[in-house]
Amino acid sequence: MTTPFDWTLATRAAKMNPSAIREILKLTERPGTISLAGGLPSPQTFPIDLFTQACNTVMERDGAAALQYAASEGYEPLRRAVADMLPWAVDPGQVLITTGSQQALDLIGKVLLDKDSRMLVETPTYLGALQAFAPQEPIAVGVASDDDGLLVEDFAAQVGSGVDKARLAYVQPNFQNPTGRTLSEQRRTALVQQAGALGIPLIEDNPYGDLWFGTPPPAPLTARNPDGCIYLGSFSKVLAPGLRVGFLVAPQAVYPKLLQAKQAADLHTPGFNQRVVAEVLKDGFLERHVPTIRALYQHQRDTMLAALARDMAGLDVAWTRPAGGMFLWLRLPEGMDAQSLLPAAVARHVAFVPGAPFYAGAADPRTLRLSYVTASSSEIDTAIAALADAIRAQQAAG
Ligand SMILES: Cc1ncc(COP(=O)(O)O)c(C=O)c1O
Repeated sequence: MTTPFDWTLATRAAKMNPSAIREILKLTERPGTISLAGGLPSPQTFPIDLFTQACNTVMERDGAAALQYAASEGYEPLRRAVADMLPWAVDPGQVLITTGSQQALDLIGKVLLDKDSRMLVETPTYLGALQAFAPQEPIAVGVASDDDGLLVEDFAAQVGSGVDKARLAYVQPNFQNPTGRTLSEQRRTALVQQAGALGIPLIEDNPYGDLWFGTPPPAPLTARNPDGCIYLGSFSKVLAPGLRVGFLVAPQAVYPKLLQAKQAADLHTPGFNQRVVAEVLKDGFLERHVPTIRALYQHQRDTMLAALARDMAGLDVAWTRPAGGMFLWLRLPEGMDAQSLLPAAVARHVAFVPGAPFYAGAADPRTLRLSYVTASSSEIDTAIAALADAIRAQQAAG
């Protein structure tokens, strides 16, 4: 006789859901499907030869240290390179190298959120941030937002007071995932001023800020008030996501706790990867490389905008016009639901991500996210035509 194992789940595990995006990515693995769903950088932009050289250099020059356990704060030359890269005066001592910026979100949740802590997010916001914070069981409150980002009046109105006062506000000012929109200069000034007046820490997540088309975005929120912000950056979108190298910059008030959380989570980000990134960055490589990514993504964005204008004509469909980054956000005709449209789109060999999981509160079921960076220009043309056909068919079916 054996006793069946009792896998009683922790409350937080019982609440975890499979990522809506990962589920959709499975659909896109079907042969012939063009995926506008995932947020995968174009592999054309990966500097593979340079990485091969950098791997060899690191091993030859520094192999034993690269393979050894190391400090949780990160590899010193990389911390310095990060501090030098940022457009305000950053002490490398405030830089914590993380295993992707996704880990930074997890550490921030552990350090700043309790069960039922109020936290403010944009409407909509990055699904992966909602997932990273969810195990702490906070109350995520969506701040009303428009094409220029979050509405600062609503931010102030939602802050709460006493034990219900928000512990943090999570914001992506540049080319936001999922909408592609950017927080205007005027709103940045007002938000930093309001957050300072109310004492609400801002978590500024900026993985897409370097991928601007035309003109660079306004200065980061953190540059305006470093003591009131934690800044998150990543090498995923400008070098390669598989490296899992990101960073945070935090004020002294909270850095030591984030460092302890990092120690508990994974001791440190792989030293080999950190050294390879530092090696690739030296001699100003990003200044030469990032413009090539911008040019490619701008071209693909233009292709998608042109295809939408052509193929959605006559349909009551609206979409954002991102000034950088990887995504645009589309709103379907009245009465239509993006989740129900998905099977019809997949049947026509195109996939997207329905917008609902990106909302902290009530979702707009008409919304969906399209990525213009993974598919080629000709695939984008084919996919948008197929999507328009799916919308027309759905409308005709009533
Ligand atoms: C807004 C945002 N933050 C964080 C991440 C995580 O990036 P990484 O962990 O690769 O640095 C992503 C990835 O898509 C993102 O879109």
